[in-house]
Amino acid sequence: MINALRGMKDILPPQNEKFEYFIKNASRIAKNYGFEYIETPILEETVLFKRSVGESSDIVGKEMYEFVDKGGNNVCLRPEGTAGVVRCFVQNKFDRIGSVKRFFYYGPMFRYERPQKGRLREFHQFGVECFGEDSPFEDVNIILMLKDILDFFGIKYTLKINSLGCDKCLPPFRDNLVKFLTDIEDGLCDDCKRRIKTNPIRVFDCKNKNCQNLLKDAPRLGSMLCDECFESFEFVKKTLDSLAVPYEVDSNLVRGLDYYTKTAFEFVSGDIGAQNAVAGGGRYDKLVEFLGGRATAGIGFAIGIERLLDLIEPDKIEKDGYYMGALDENALSIIFKIGYKKRKKEKVEIAYKTKSLKAHLKAADKKGVRYCAVIGENEINEGKVWVKDLLKKEEYSIDIDKFSE
Ligand code: HAM
Repeated sequence: MINALRGMKDILPPQNEKFEYFIKNASRIAKNYGFEYIETPILEETVLFKRSVGESSDIVGKEMYEFVDKGGNNVCLRPEGTAGVVRCFVQNKFDRIGSVKRFFYYGPMFRYERPQKGRLREFHQFGVECFGEDSPFEDVNIILMLKDILDFFGIKYTLKINSLGCDKCLPPFRDNLVKFLTDIEDGLCDDCKRRIKTNPIRVFDCKNKNCQNLLKDAPRLGSMLCDECFESFEFVKKTLDSLAVPYEVDSNLVRGLDYYTKTAFEFVSGDIGAQNAVAGGGRYDKLVEFLGGRATAGIGFAIGIERLLDLIEPDKIEKDGYYMGALDENALSIIFKIGYKKRKKEKVEIAYKTKSLKAHLKAADKKGVRYCAVIGENEINEGKVWVKDLLKKEEYSIDIDKFSE
């Protein structure tokens, strides 16, 4: 028997329904916010992620599905969506148009991580990216949109925010931090020792208790932000306050990708175990330029769909469509014909064998549809269809012609 690879999963019932339900509604909300759907390739040149996500990040350094293709190109399965969308933005010269562009996308991402609950090697993200808008209103807009999506699915979360500074305030802060870390180096774990040289800011994300204790007195970027970053972060906080959106400022929130500047955020849940980030994102105002485009502000987020699906209650999924069944042999062909007509507008499942009413109702329930429509001898004589609304628990009879209109 050949099994799926470790950390990769088939999306089967009942998760498949939740998956579709999520995509449909998250896309609707993204469109309400003016975002357009795009798709970019799953395979990209490895150098794209090295340059954007960063060679010192775990994602690029340890977790990429990387190989040389038949043409000798070094390629990899995308570990995240932002880099590909930025590449597409620059390649299609959207950076020269000068107007704001907003995109959303969803699809599989690949990271060779150690699989555990909530951590897969192939997982799916729903992401959005906005280009050309440097106003901090957009930071709030993006956070509100993510909040709207999570609220729609009834998910409870904590919003954590931080500012990661810019190329003016980050380098002096990094020097300060390296000095501090070098003094306490002996007490740090091996990963943090390595980070002092490669990516010192990532030490704040270390889960090792000893490191966390040692870092209590470490300098924090919040107190070293330049005026522009400080004012922008104050604006974001004040605007969230004015909208009564609760948040926590978390100076340990550093994100695992190197392209962020200014506002960074995560939505975490207490109900999904150790891998508690449902979604994360932030600003990346230097990335378009870094990948060869004209200087263009950028900001976005991605939701981990599998993590979110674990939090959606099955009864939150709205039932739709019809199940149609015959009680009598003579009704089978009628059902088939009117079901075919009804399908022009609605989802219709047709049973090809006669069953008792009880058995049809049970089958309709199993299919997860909203209505069970049945025709027996009585209905044939009266030219009617008997319908039960399985959600409202109401029953009625309707003329066959009206039913299939
Ligand atoms: P990220 O924080 O690396 O950000 O991933 C976003 C979300 O994907 C996480 O919050 C988590 O829910 C989910 N996720 C990450 N790794 C795994 C995994 N191994 N298994 C299951 N779920 C996972 C990004 O990818 C950025 N591109 C987000 C962004 C868009 N920033 C700006 N624009």
